[in-house]
Amino acid sequence: MGTVIPVASGKGGVGKTVVAANLGLALSALGKTVVLVDLDLGGANLHTVLGVRNRHAGLGSLIWRTETKLDTLVVATGYPRLYLIPGDSLLPGTANPDYSIKRRIMRDLGTLPADFVILDLGAGSSYTVVDFWLMAPDGFLVVVPEIPSILNAYSFLKTAAFRLFLRSFPRGDEARAQALRHAAGSREGKAQRLLDFAVDLAGQAGERGAQALEALRSLKPRVIVNLAEGRAGEPELAGRLGGIAKAHLGIDPEYVATLPRDPAVSSSIARPEPVLAMSPQAPFSLALAGLARQLAGGSGQK
Ligand SMILES: Nc1ncnc2c1ncn2[C@@H]1O[C@H](COP(=O)(O)OP(=O)(O)OP(=O)(O)O)[C@@H](O)[C@H]1O
Ligand SMILES: [Mg+2]
Repeated sequence: MGTVIPVASGKGGVGKTVVAANLGLALSALGKTVVLVDLDLGGANLHTVLGVRNRHAGLGSLIWRTETKLDTLVVATGYPRLYLIPGDSLLPGTANPDYSIKRRIMRDLGTLPADFVILDLGAGSSYTVVDFWLMAPDGFLVVVPEIPSILNAYSFLKTAAFRLFLRSFPRGDEARAQALRHAAGSREGKAQRLLDFAVDLAGQAGERGAQALEALRSLKPRVIVNLAEGRAGEPELAGRLGGIAKAHLGIDPEYVATLPRDPAVSSSIARPEPVLAMSPQAPFSLALAGLARQLAGGSGQK
């Protein structure tokens, strides 16, 4: 069973797919077995960034039930130890699978025989994206050092934290109804911090309440700042996500990497070939390889 690394962003076009593909390649180069999973249902393009032709069945065929087993969808990428589960963006209606299919995909992803399973998610905060992101308590969140990206990332965290909390209570439970009322009544700046509300509610909701609170407290998102230009004030701007998340949600994200804007990335997209393979000495590649070393040293085989 591998370490699952979901990659999300809130705002689109900030580099999730580029990060997921090249992080996978960097980890495989360190001797780890990696499965990259294109979970951008409806907008799959991970194969393109990897330079792999899209002629295999992907997750769409599982959702459309022409395939039943996730592990039959795994294809080689041409790089040693690096595998791909493609997405199938050509099939209609794939973007919102039933909850039961999602549950099954999540269960099967967790049992793939790899050291790392990296999930490239779609943009936004839909429950499909959020549910996959919550497969790990420390999923990646890619931001760029600009206000809209920071605000979208915050919204994403808010949705995810709330979803995680809510999932701990069954339908019909009074605590769930209270949590929904809390969400409906929240106004930015006025609402009680989610974590404080959760502490109050958990006090009244017995064992389930305690579990919900523990799940919320274990959330430790890992932030990647991409497209950094090295301008003055950029680190502070990116750091604002941490400040708002702490103040309003009680969540304290960890900043794990800053990746520069690098023309080598654009050239690699045009080729197409992962930048790490095409230009291993480019600043982006070196920064990403550093992150991979950190991950490979810290976790890996479970
Ligand atoms: N560090 C970088 N330097 C230069 N260009 C970059 C960098 N990161 C990403 N890009 C450019 O941004 C584009 C979008 O990246 P990518 O497709 O990875 O974003 P995304 O978050 O996956 O988008 P979507 O939300 O549409 O899935 C890429 O085509 C690439 O050209
Ligand atoms: Mg993408």
